[in-house]
Amino acid sequence: MSFIKINNLTKEYNTANESVLAINNVTASIESNEFLSVMGPSGSGKSTFLTAIGGLSHPTKGEVIIDDMNIFGLGADKLAKYRREYIGFIFQSFHLLKYLTVKENTMLPLAISDLTKGEKEERCTQIFSKVGLENKVHRMVDELSGGEQQRVAIARALVNEPLILLADEPTGNLDTKTGESIMELFCNLNEEGRTIIVVTHDKKVEGYGKRSIYFKDGQIIN
Ligand SMILES: Nc1ncnc2c1ncn2[C@@H]1O[C@H](COP(=O)(O)OP(=O)(O)OP(=O)(O)O)[C@@H](O)[C@H]1O
Ligand SMILES: [Mg+2]
Repeated sequence: MSFIKINNLTKEYNTANESVLAINNVTASIESNEFLSVMGPSGSGKSTFLTAIGGLSHPTKGEVIIDDMNIFGLGADKLAKYRREYIGFIFQSFHLLKYLTVKENTMLPLAISDLTKGEKEERCTQIFSKVGLENKVHRMVDELSGGEQQRVAIARALVNEPLILLADEPTGNLDTKTGESIMELFCNLNEEGRTIIVVTHDKKVEGYGKRSIYFKDGQIIN
């Protein structure tokens, strides 16, 4: 059984005037320790696919099985535990809390954790040096540039040392050099055994992955 198994996944969004079929009966398997690039035109369903794996948006139909758990069949508490233990999510639009500092945002996933205060501090120090934010730790996030905010979002996704890293256009707001260093960081995490799934439009970013899938109109076309 694959580490991540998506069976006949369908996601329909209902807005005031229309219903949108964002994912149309998709079946896919992703092995543990894969580094997968997810490509496809705007609106093809990539972010929706990622949020389903992250346990963030309930499918209309179908299942997402991770490590033998049918995640949308878990109760709310267990689903939250799944997200905490398995998932680091880098959102396309960051989702940072603007009235908190860089450090406070990054530490949010550690709020419920068995780590000691010292261990949490150590984690933060390490991650800030990896993403190059060591000099901005006490800044409010709305006083940062777009690229810096993106790096805070990356730090927050990694601080829990998740088994699965889901990244939605993680380098979209970064200069070439910072983007490359973030992708190298993802490669190192993958070598440590973590499963990485990156949504991107960028061929260079795709090149860091070991396999690619392509979405079109809510379906995987290869
Ligand atoms: N919350 C929502 N409510 C209604 N429709 C939505 C919602 N989120 C996404 N959609 C629609 O679902 C479809 C797939 O969207 P999705 O965000 O998954 O695409 P995407 O491939 O990530 O696109 P992009 O590359 O622009 O980020 C689109 O038609 C989009 O308009
Ligand atoms: Mg998207």
